[in-house]
Amino acid sequence: MTVQQDLRQQVLGREVDISAAAERVAPLGREEILETLNVGREGINRREFLTYAWASALGLLTLESGLATYRFMSPRFSSGTFGGEFHLGSAANLPSTDLAPQPNTAGNFWLVNTDSGPRALYMVCTHLGCLYKWDPTNNRFLCPCHFSQFSREGHYIWGPAPRSLDQFRIDVVDGDTVVTKTDEGSEEILAPAVDTPGVDIVVDTGDRIRGLPAAMSPARAKNEAD
Ligand code: FES
Repeated sequence: MTVQQDLRQQVLGREVDISAAAERVAPLGREEILETLNVGREGINRREFLTYAWASALGLLTLESGLATYRFMSPRFSSGTFGGEFHLGSAANLPSTDLAPQPNTAGNFWLVNTDSGPRALYMVCTHLGCLYKWDPTNNRFLCPCHFSQFSREGHYIWGPAPRSLDQFRIDVVDGDTVVTKTDEGSEEILAPAVDTPGVDIVVDTGDRIRGLPAAMSPARAKNEAD
């Protein structure tokens, strides 16, 4: 056999091999071909890479959801700003029960001390949202817009307001323990009793308690009886 014949024999042999390989590869999909040819295999293959990418994306999504939930659940207002807590210090510093209500403009509440305990009355009228004022002459709150009147405890007395004044929850705190707090009863909103002078007073302006309907106000009944 000449050299040329030998070369032709080899070439023909390879043609047979290539043809056979093409037939094997033809039915496969792109992913399988890449897999078969080991494309992209430098440590991990393409399938592994996609798996890791999906896992990373899912982990990131879970982390972001967790952070969003944490932000939603955690307090959004810092202490001393409206919407947050106001630490008023020792109960011994509460104003006397016969003193006029004290305005706290940063917290948007009137602090009133009564025989049954302190109250933090939201400064906004329950009619159409005007800012009512304390009227020392008549010993009651008076709204300048439509003249609704409320007692020192925030109870509805007279006027177009549909309910008594809203108030913020007050916690009576001993160290880290809440001893008692404003009680949102169905018949009456009860102020927290302060029996121990060593406790502290905290007003939570993030927890507004809606005033009860005007028809349920004891001050209204008393006013009509007088
Ligand atoms: S807004 Fe206060 S009485 Fe109307």
